[in-house]
Amino acid sequence: MSSTNQNHKLCMIPGPVEFHEDVLDAMSTLSTSHVSPAFIPIFGESIELLRKVVLTAKGQPFVVAGSGTLGWDMVASNLVEPNEDVLVLNSGYFGDSFTTCLETYGGKVTQVKAPIGDKPSLQEISEMLKTKFFKVITITHVDTSTGVLSDVKSIAQRVKEQSPNTLVIVDGVCSVGVEEIRMDEWGLDLVMTASQKALGVPPGLSIVIASERAIETFKKRKTPVKSYYASWANWLPIMNAYEARKGAYFATPPVQLIYALNTSLKQITSVPLEKRFEQHKKVSKFVKDAIEELGLKMLPKSRDIAANGMTAVYYPESLTAVDLLPKVASNNIVIAGGLLKTIASKYFRIGHMGISVTEPDRKHIQDTVSALKISLKDLGYSANL
Ligand SMILES: Cc1ncc(COP(=O)(O)O)c(C=O)c1O
Repeated sequence: MSSTNQNHKLCMIPGPVEFHEDVLDAMSTLSTSHVSPAFIPIFGESIELLRKVVLTAKGQPFVVAGSGTLGWDMVASNLVEPNEDVLVLNSGYFGDSFTTCLETYGGKVTQVKAPIGDKPSLQEISEMLKTKFFKVITITHVDTSTGVLSDVKSIAQRVKEQSPNTLVIVDGVCSVGVEEIRMDEWGLDLVMTASQKALGVPPGLSIVIASERAIETFKKRKTPVKSYYASWANWLPIMNAYEARKGAYFATPPVQLIYALNTSLKQITSVPLEKRFEQHKKVSKFVKDAIEELGLKMLPKSRDIAANGMTAVYYPESLTAVDLLPKVASNNIVIAGGLLKTIASKYFRIGHMGISVTEPDRKHIQDTVSALKISLKDLGYSANL
């Protein structure tokens, strides 16, 4: 099977990303019992490998069928009890959605909301932390709607200084496997992601890694968890069993996706993570330089707060999504439209994560930039072309 099949348009959106042939092959594993001796070590090893990706020794990975959104439900239902205060740092669409999820389970959310293209400042976060005790603070590491990158390390440090009992939760759906994340060193309590982004696995897995402190907090709850499927009471024994190389059942795991995850995690961890972070930075710079050379404006207000796995760009005034996206697709590249409701029709997004970045011989990035240039030119946009 090939991800570069002739009829395939390259999927250069901020997830799902392009998948490695070996990962796709792993998806076609013949039907296998989820408690078979063949599958148990694959699941167990995948749990172990996830720790390496977020640099934690004792964090507890959860790998559960679902999408990234299920990670929010896990946070909201396992770590927050009704009427407990939560601080959400909002740099776009995904901060809004995380808020809605937390409120669904009874969390009392206060937001620090940044203007479009910006992130909450350390000063604003500090001021808010002084107002009351927050059980949890959530950070969207990269808000995929705006391409804004938050400084997780500095925020975690500030929270440790001002409110050491607050749990630091990172939505890393668009950052795990791209941006530097040092779960133990930075004192993060939970990092969540999904299979379809930089982990390079088809959609369908929610991946959450919780610190020992987060697990303790869950165990000390006073009220029952208001979710059945997302409850760690159900999933913790399953994760522990597979890691101990024993089969167990709560709800059927997506066997083929876990084979695919195992293949991808082995590829990712076979190279030092630092190299991976650098590769993503380098490619991000290449794409952003090209965008600036074209005279186009990006959403993040400056380069130093722009994500390394995606680029969000305003259309030139003369063009819209209806013009540009189909034109780029006719050049065999799929890019994404805008997502942030108030300005969705005004910008587009390019994803640059995973094998498109780490395997430059595939020329995905060059092909994407060329397709963009050709499309803009065909549509009559002439600045710097
Ligand atoms: C930052 C962020 N958080 C959460 C999600 C939700 O993930 P999913 O769409 O897999 O449910 C996404 C999806 O793109 C995301 O980018």
